[in-house]
Amino acid sequence: MRKEVVLITGANGEIGHGLITHLGEKGNFSIVALDVSPLDKSLMKYCERFILGDILDTMILGRLVVEFEIRTIYHLASILSTKAEYNPETAHRINVEGTLNLLRLAVEQAAWQGRPVKFIYPSSIAAYGIPDLKTKETAGKVKESDYLQPTTMYGCNKLYCEHLGRYYSSFYRQLAADRSQNTIDFRCLRFPGLISAVTIPTGGTSDYGPEMLHHAAQGMHYDCFVRPDTRLPFMVMPDAIKSILHLEAAPAEALSQRVYNVTSFSPTAQEFYEIIARAFPGADVAFKPHASRQGIVDTWPGDVDDSAACRDWNWSPDYDQARSFDDYLLPAIRQRYAK
Ligand code: SER
Repeated sequence: MRKEVVLITGANGEIGHGLITHLGEKGNFSIVALDVSPLDKSLMKYCERFILGDILDTMILGRLVVEFEIRTIYHLASILSTKAEYNPETAHRINVEGTLNLLRLAVEQAAWQGRPVKFIYPSSIAAYGIPDLKTKETAGKVKESDYLQPTTMYGCNKLYCEHLGRYYSSFYRQLAADRSQNTIDFRCLRFPGLISAVTIPTGGTSDYGPEMLHHAAQGMHYDCFVRPDTRLPFMVMPDAIKSILHLEAAPAEALSQRVYNVTSFSPTAQEFYEIIARAFPGADVAFKPHASRQGIVDTWPGDVDDSAACRDWNWSPDYDQARSFDDYLLPAIRQRYAK
């Protein structure tokens, strides 16, 4: 008998840290974790198995199937938006071909098991592409179906993988005589910028928020790469994990769509700075907009409409702007950098 597990790719990333810690502490599932870099020692104790490897390596994925019965896949591995622009074709391979490998693994597993395999996929505000600043300022809370003209390779990849998830769930091999009814149950969250107290993001374009905070907490100078008036939606990691788990647990009949916006608060970079400067007097931040990264952020919505998630699976963040800083980020970050 193969052991029943959940598979987490991108295990050593920011969301991976939060998710493995949460699931591991609950102890209800055996976790198989995969990442291209070695797993943080603190996470090892929560994992049944850690595999150091690439999602493009189909041999690794094949071996997983031999050994484990995978019930849910949390496919978190991805190259973020800034990094992807330095090598768009490599990003495409990892973000799209990697996802395709996992989707294929999931349908195969579902066929063997005779029941759908859940596939939880984090998409992003990068899936949007608002044409100009004036439109961004007047767009208000952007709905899932609006402004889907991403300008980054990462955004294009995320949007396309949302479509692949829908295809594999509902239309996979639709002409085949032996078409299986048990495919995958694809569920996707479009995340805003995420901020964690325990990890620092790498290669994203919403990174100015968390970077400003972590630099100020360490008394380090920070050049913020967007203008002070730049607005983006954000959410803290505990709410990101909450949204993943709630969407995973929602009854299929309750879900009217496969892709859901989630968000919490939408500060400008200036407001972000003011909160940080109050918490860390003397915070040394200079606004030095980087034209191209600014250009990317200018195409992302200043706020998103998460009413579908609220309605279908009772979504609401635990941490609004004040609680995010006062009850989560500031205490944990102060402790982290305390000498
Ligand atoms: N945080 C991501 C990035 O900046 C957006 O989803 O690329």
